[in-house]
Order: sequence, then structure tokens, then C-alpha cells
Amino acid sequence: EAIEKGGFEHFMLKEIFEQPKSIADCMRGRLKADSGHLVLGGIREYAHKLDKAERIIIVACGTSWHAGLVAEYIFEDWCRIPVEVEYASEFRYRNPIINEGDIVIAISQSGETADTLAAIELAKSKGAIIFGVCNVVGSSIARLTHEGAYTHAGPEIGVASTKAFTAQLTVLGMMALKLGLRRGTLKESRFHELLVELESIPTKVEKALKTDSLIKKISEKFKDSKNFLYLGRGYNFPVALEGALKLKEISYIHAEGYPAAEMKHGPIALIDEEMPVVFIATQDSSYEKIVSNIQEVKARKGKVIAIVTEGDEIIPQMADYTIEVPATTEELMPLVSVIPLQLLSYHIAVMRDCNVDQPRNLAKSVTVE
Ligand code: AGP
Repeated sequence: EAIEKGGFEHFMLKEIFEQPKSIADCMRGRLKADSGHLVLGGIREYAHKLDKAERIIIVACGTSWHAGLVAEYIFEDWCRIPVEVEYASEFRYRNPIINEGDIVIAISQSGETADTLAAIELAKSKGAIIFGVCNVVGSSIARLTHEGAYTHAGPEIGVASTKAFTAQLTVLGMMALKLGLRRGTLKESRFHELLVELESIPTKVEKALKTDSLIKKISEKFKDSKNFLYLGRGYNFPVALEGALKLKEISYIHAEGYPAAEMKHGPIALIDEEMPVVFIATQDSSYEKIVSNIQEVKARKGKVIAIVTEGDEIIPQMADYTIEVPATTEELMPLVSVIPLQLLSYHIAVMRDCNVDQPRNLAKSVTVE
């Protein structure tokens, strides 16, 4: 086991640090920015169905559902297709409207999640075309879908999903880029810019990982907190949800993720000097708005940990702790901004003596309904 951990104390830490490579592996042979090459070999026969899609339904659970939320923003932005993101466990038990030819994208690291499998079966029985985004080759979901793309992140052992999440975002990003170009909703010049940007993500993730020792120090300050709030806007909203989920599942600290603008509709009542608030506040189209959300938290004496874009000079003046990540286009920022949150949950869990790789009550594949 020590050999398999490659010198890391836990599988989760190894998998966090593997991400520059796993994201690159996910793009290998599929994307080449200098020649404008982007091909997902697993999506062929049904590609024309995607081209003509009038809506996309994404079904998934947990972290994979968070990847689906990011994908919703991306597909709507680049491809101008309405997207619904559904918890597989809700979708399958209600009476959803699924029409012949509807497109369903099922996202699952394990490819064995019972609710996601059942949601696929339901959609298939109504004539939908199902694309799978799975990590485990030959898994049940991979076999049940019409077509799909593997995430190629390599085996993920830690129960808390890390590298599978960033690989899911990479695959979904590539799918949306291709589709946006084919549908003509993404200008060719923008398509090329985004290819270059996506190709540079492994290097940026590598840089984001350098925040590890700073995050360890910050973790020391907050390891005994009883609650955490995670706030983000736009593309960073699903990242807030993911950060909160990571902390909950491995450190057993109660954490909530929220869209920052929703804070004033309730969660703001929770803020006092005991409440750490993690802001994912990188420089994007909602930057100014999130700066005022940070001020609102500070005015109520909350403790702010802010994930910001490198070189930000405004937020560090307000936040108690600032963690810098490299700049990228806002659509791809979740690939980078999630890294410090994975590290934060990891270090806090280790400091609390929790079983990081196998947290209580959780299984890697949730095969029960
Ligand atoms: C992630 O950290 C969780 N352990 C969990 O939410 C997981 O993402 C969920 O069970 C879905 O699993 P899947 O991707 O294998 O379908």
C-alpha cells in the first residue's frame, strides 16, 4: 500500500497532487491547441444528435453532480442549449418529461452509482440518447450509455473525489467546445483561445498546488471550527458546493456551500466571529459583486478565507487569509479554484485525526438506492 501511495501519506493527497497529470492524460490524443485538433473518439455515431439537441439533461450524484452544474453554465454559454442538471435520485423517482431524442449526459466516476444507473434506464426507456462521462473503464454506466468519453484520470482510491472531478470538468469542457464550434455558437477565434487555455490548465493546477504549505497553516487555525460557509458566484458557485462537500465528508465539520448572492436571503444570519467563510473570489465577471459580499461578512466579524486570482490587490486587504491561484478564463476557473479547497479539507481532516481515505459511513461506489 505504501508503494501505491507513492510516498504520500494518503491516497487522497496523492490524487490531489496527480491532477496536473490526470488532466493532461484526459486531454492526451484528444486536444492539440496549436493545430486546432479536438476529437473525442467515443462520440461518433451520435454526434449529430448532440448537434441538433434542443436541451440537455445532466444526471449525476455528489461531486459528479457538481461537475454537471459547471457543465450547465458552459454548455449554455458556448453552445446556447438549455441544460437541466438533475440529482439522479430525484430524477428517477419523479415523472420527468423526457422526449424521444432528448440528450442525457450521465456523469459518474465509478460508473456504478445505483441512482445514476436507474436514471439512465428510465431516460433510455423513453427514447433519450445517453452520453456517459465515466472514469472506470467497462463500468455498468459506461456499458449502458449509447456513447461517451472516459475521463482517464486513473484509479481514484480516496473516497473523496478529487482528480475525477477535474477530469470530468475537462471532458465536459471538451464536449462543449466541440459542440459550440459545430453549432456555430462559439466563434472560431474564441474556440482556439479556449483550446490554448484548456491546454495550459495542468501547468496552472501545478502552480495552485504550491499553495499547499500556506493552506496547511490556515488549516491549523480552523481545524476546531464547528461550521464553515463556502460562497462563490457564477462558475465558482459549484466550486463552493464542492469545497463544502469535501470538508463535510472527510473532516465531519458541518459546511454549507451557497451562491454568494443568496447569503443575504438567510445564511448571513449565521455570521459571527466564530464563522469561517471561504470565498471563491477569482477575478471574473462577478468580481465586484463578490467583493461587496466579502465586505458584508467582514462587517459582521466573520473570518474570511479568500481564494483569489494571483496579483489581486483588493481582496487581501479585507480577507483574513488569502490564497492565490493563477488566472484563467472564468469558464475554466473551477479546474484551478477547486485545488485549494481540496487541500484545505485534506489538512483539516488530517489534523482532526480523521480517516481521510475511508471516511465513516461512506463508500467509494454507492450501489445502494
Ligand atoms: C465525492 O467526494 C463523494 N464521495 C460522492 O459524492 C460521489 O461523488 C458520488 O457518490 C457519486 O459517485 P460517482 O461519481 O461514482 O457516481
